[in-house]
Amino acid sequence: MKILVTGGAGFIASHVVDAYLDAGHEVTVLDDLSKGKKKNVAPKARLVTMDIRDPNLSTLFAQSGFDIVNHHAAQIDVRRSMQDPFFDASVNILGTLRLLECCRTYGARKFIFASSGGAIYGECEKPAQESDELRPESPYGYSKAGAEIYIQFYGKYYHLPYTLLRYANVYGPRQDALGEAGVISIFIGKLLANEPVTIFGTGRQERDYVSVWDVVAANVAALTKGENGIFNIGTQLPASVNALYDKLAKIHGRNVKPVYAPARPGELERSVLNTAAAQQALGWRSVRSLDQGLEETYRFFLEQKPAPAKA
Ligand SMILES: NC(=O)c1ccc[n+]([C@@H]2O[C@H](COP(=O)([O-])OP(=O)(O)OC[C@H]3O[C@@H](n4cnc5c(N)ncnc54)[C@H](O)[C@@H]3O)[C@@H](O)[C@H]2O)c1
Repeated sequence: MKILVTGGAGFIASHVVDAYLDAGHEVTVLDDLSKGKKKNVAPKARLVTMDIRDPNLSTLFAQSGFDIVNHHAAQIDVRRSMQDPFFDASVNILGTLRLLECCRTYGARKFIFASSGGAIYGECEKPAQESDELRPESPYGYSKAGAEIYIQFYGKYYHLPYTLLRYANVYGPRQDALGEAGVISIFIGKLLANEPVTIFGTGRQERDYVSVWDVVAANVAALTKGENGIFNIGTQLPASVNALYDKLAKIHGRNVKPVYAPARPGELERSVLNTAAAQQALGWRSVRSLDQGLEETYRFFLEQKPAPAKA
């Protein structure tokens, strides 16, 4: 199949691209390289450096005849979304709309979307289910929820089949340790640099950390399954930030005490996803344990670490 993967030079989607290529598909990556890196894009994929909001997108669609669009490109920084909600909505809502219009006009057969369970359910007393009320706590959460609704509209009125994947906290190789999104890559980066790790709040806040390899498997399943469905993609197992730090410090082999700083405003106490629907409709469940996933991620960053400068 001819597949367009947006954001394919970034963390998650570059792994999705690799899996689609391995399965024999013809993959085009659309990425403006604002955060993504050329080196993440497999040589067998075609890279088009363009903003998803660019009106010339229609030319790309007209020339390429994509069967499937897998949409991962996004403004992903929650704090930036608070400071500049216009920009956030412009990329996450209007950019998604431009892609949907192209799909409608040029007849794509399916739209797969990377949504965020962590950002749209709000506080989770029990593992969130897809039918739960959406209670985003940031413009980013609203823009993800808004994009989902537009996709469902195109499904209903223009018969564009879709699969919405609501990810938990994704971690793994290629995640940006310099950014804000991935606490695991940030912790590993600090440990490897022998810098103190800062934990905001008590560290007892819990998240559902899912390995990028499991997320890739869900994107592969979504090529042929889960039509017009919404699926949580997580582990169902919450882990506290303190537990995460302890595991990483143990892998690193040196347990330096973390530094605690005041909790950041608006941070959730608990976010965890129920994944029964994905198990049933996609035949998918998370298979990587947190210990295994952390070990793999640590090894990746260790190999990436530049050699220390000579004195
Ligand atoms: N990382 C997580 O834990 C997580 C959780 C839930 C959902 N998601 C979603 O998964 C997707 C990928 O996230 P990621 O963590 O890999 O982030 P990432 O920043 O590594 O990847 C996003 C990619 O999109 C590109 N991009 C950004 N704006 C663009 C634009 N206007 N036009 C074209 N390309 C653009 C960036 O250059 C980057 O390569 C996002 O949609 C994000 O909302 C991620």
